[in-house]
Amino acid sequence: MFLKSEKFREIKTDSGLSKIKSFTSIEDKISNLESFHTFWIIDKRIYQLYNKKLKVNNMILIEANESNKNIQTVEKIIVELNKKGADRTSRLIALGGGVICDITGFVASIYMRGIDFQYIPTTLLSMVDASIGGKNGVNLKTSKNLIGVFNQPQAVYINTDFLESLSQRDFLSGLAEIIKYSLIFDITFYKYLTENRDKILSRDMDVLNKIVWKSIDIKAQIVIMDEKEKSLRMILNFGHTAGHAIESATNFTHGESVSIGMRIGIDLSFKLHLIDEKIHDELLKFLKNFCLPVEIPKGFSKIMDRIKNDKKKVGDSINFVLIEKIGKARIVKLSIKKIIELINELYNY
Ligand code: GLY
Repeated sequence: MFLKSEKFREIKTDSGLSKIKSFTSIEDKISNLESFHTFWIIDKRIYQLYNKKLKVNNMILIEANESNKNIQTVEKIIVELNKKGADRTSRLIALGGGVICDITGFVASIYMRGIDFQYIPTTLLSMVDASIGGKNGVNLKTSKNLIGVFNQPQAVYINTDFLESLSQRDFLSGLAEIIKYSLIFDITFYKYLTENRDKILSRDMDVLNKIVWKSIDIKAQIVIMDEKEKSLRMILNFGHTAGHAIESATNFTHGESVSIGMRIGIDLSFKLHLIDEKIHDELLKFLKNFCLPVEIPKGFSKIMDRIKNDKKKVGDSINFVLIEKIGKARIVKLSIKKIIELINELYNY
């Protein structure tokens, strides 16, 4: 069967057990989770949208911009938690997108040497990626997610109704990660996405539920096998080496940057003879059909200079993720010099 009918997954790793469950009523979920011990970290936008349903005592509202995902915000939250009386028995619950989940997981991991934390992701990107797999961290000005820990949230609660109020750009941003899962791991999923393109773009809830849970399933399988990214988990970085450089240098969203990064990965896979021209063209068409950008931005050679700061760099090389066939990624160790050389050849800089 393409999709297991139950909406429940478990990720058991060295750093803990994460239970991923669906829920129906936002109001009921929040009142069930609310307690003397619970401290909520909430995206301001979500608070404005749902404030009538959010009857909670201890909350901290955060402006959910990537530029706020930094150590100063972490410090502010910690000071606030301390003022509000959070102790070792307290738990943090994130209600928001990836920025909120990443900050909350990181704060919970270091506050009083670690307290419990859970996520209620509200964006497509956070449902299928940020909330799953236990990577928590914040950015430095020069480099994304440079500071962080691996630590699994005890629970992640999924309700795709949140997706109805998502802007088109944020929706497509999450879709880029879903597309990535199909390209690196599962050709059946790729075919399903291709066949259901119109329903996906018109946010048919039944199809969205299927692709969200399939993505969670794929990510969970990968994380269970390699939580600390020693080998297999690296494939999740497909499109992300160039993508992170683009995201930190431009106004593209995460998903838009990853989409351009995937295009570069597809071009490089062709250039290095892993895929033929037919597959190359089919994959670029696949990205475009989902309204994702694939044009190389102006000033790209300068942007690519940023990969020198990529935290995944080992010595002067990067494990670059390429595609060897639809549904299968290959990790190729390339020197940064070689990557820049290949990119210059590809895009004539
Ligand atoms: N977002 C990539 C990962 O969790 O490994």
